[in-house]
Amino acid sequence: MFTPDFEKYNFVKIKKLKLKNLGLEILWENGKKTSHLAKNLREFSTDPQTTHPITREALLLPLDIPDNFYIKNAIDNNDGFLKIQWSEKLFTEEKDFSIFHTGWLYHTGINNEKKIYDLKEKLWRSGDFKKIKIIDGKKLFDDDKEFFQFLSNVVVFGVSLVKNLENNPKTIELFTNLIGTVRGSNFGKFFDVKIKKNADSNAYTSHELKPHNDLATREYIPGIQILFCLQNSVKGGESTLCDGFAIAKEIKEKNKEAFKLLSNYQIDFANKSDNSDYRYSSPLFFHNRQGKLNEVRWTNWLRSPLRGSLSKMEKFYNAQKLAYKHSDNKKFKIKIKLNPGELICFDNRRVLHGRTSFNSNTGERWLRGCYMEREEIFSAIRVLQRKIKE
Ligand SMILES: [Fe+2]
Repeated sequence: MFTPDFEKYNFVKIKKLKLKNLGLEILWENGKKTSHLAKNLREFSTDPQTTHPITREALLLPLDIPDNFYIKNAIDNNDGFLKIQWSEKLFTEEKDFSIFHTGWLYHTGINNEKKIYDLKEKLWRSGDFKKIKIIDGKKLFDDDKEFFQFLSNVVVFGVSLVKNLENNPKTIELFTNLIGTVRGSNFGKFFDVKIKKNADSNAYTSHELKPHNDLATREYIPGIQILFCLQNSVKGGESTLCDGFAIAKEIKEKNKEAFKLLSNYQIDFANKSDNSDYRYSSPLFFHNRQGKLNEVRWTNWLRSPLRGSLSKMEKFYNAQKLAYKHSDNKKFKIKIKLNPGELICFDNRRVLHGRTSFNSNTGERWLRGCYMEREEIFSAIRVLQRKIKE
């Protein structure tokens, strides 16, 4: 075990080492600098009393490190490893030094230097959708490259279309097993989108569904949604998609006031059901602590009445109308008819989905769906990258 994790690192060359009272500063050959606090670094030593050899999880606590602990010496072995001599032993039978992998020191020392994936979000409009590579479901299960393409589509464009999967109700479960864990909801672990007599959502009728995201009533909206087509012989029933982040950008550029309102005015969402009552308040555009748009909350039929002064409500109402107008505009919205064995996987906090109405007398329509979290996609990418490096 060379590092206290399962990551694969390349060695990085050190230019200069600087010992300080509190720790070590490293100047790397590429001109970047990292700092390593002695007490903290000691906790990542790879000896079996510090890092469990199987789990590679930490066995020490900050409580185990003496207050006056420091680095006595640091020697670059020029073989990709750095020898750190500690001020004292923590365990009687151990050596007074640890060996650190330079790649580990570099990548954990530089924030974001080693990104989990080198994938950047790309916003899209309807005209760009055809540029997103369609995934071949026949290859997906055995071909790492195809699987990586699928995962990166979801990260970059927020959506991936998969064709040629086996038309079987079990396929979606096998598909999710490839990625990670499914998130259940009050609609079950896997839900069947088909007409229900006592529908508990508009989804289970033949009505048109305007672009929306699912479960806007939850504090944490599912990050990923998968819809797998098993039957679609009806007239109509096309799937629609649009990039909510691209719409937010358009509004930000062309109507600052509306963007501000949509980013700040909290609205209430509530589901309508006899046996569940989920509610949440949030602006339509939610930004994270770094100020980046992180999610849109956009479900027409789950909105509760507005509250506030009449003038504020009127302003917000118009801003909201603008957002809904864009999401229903050909500039942003694409239509695709999913065929049996085809699937769409999309970021449910970014990409809005919907469907055109259909005539249930003309055939059958059956989609099977489920939710996951974004982090399942990220984790699958990291693990895959590790595998590719081997
Ligand atoms: Fe939906």
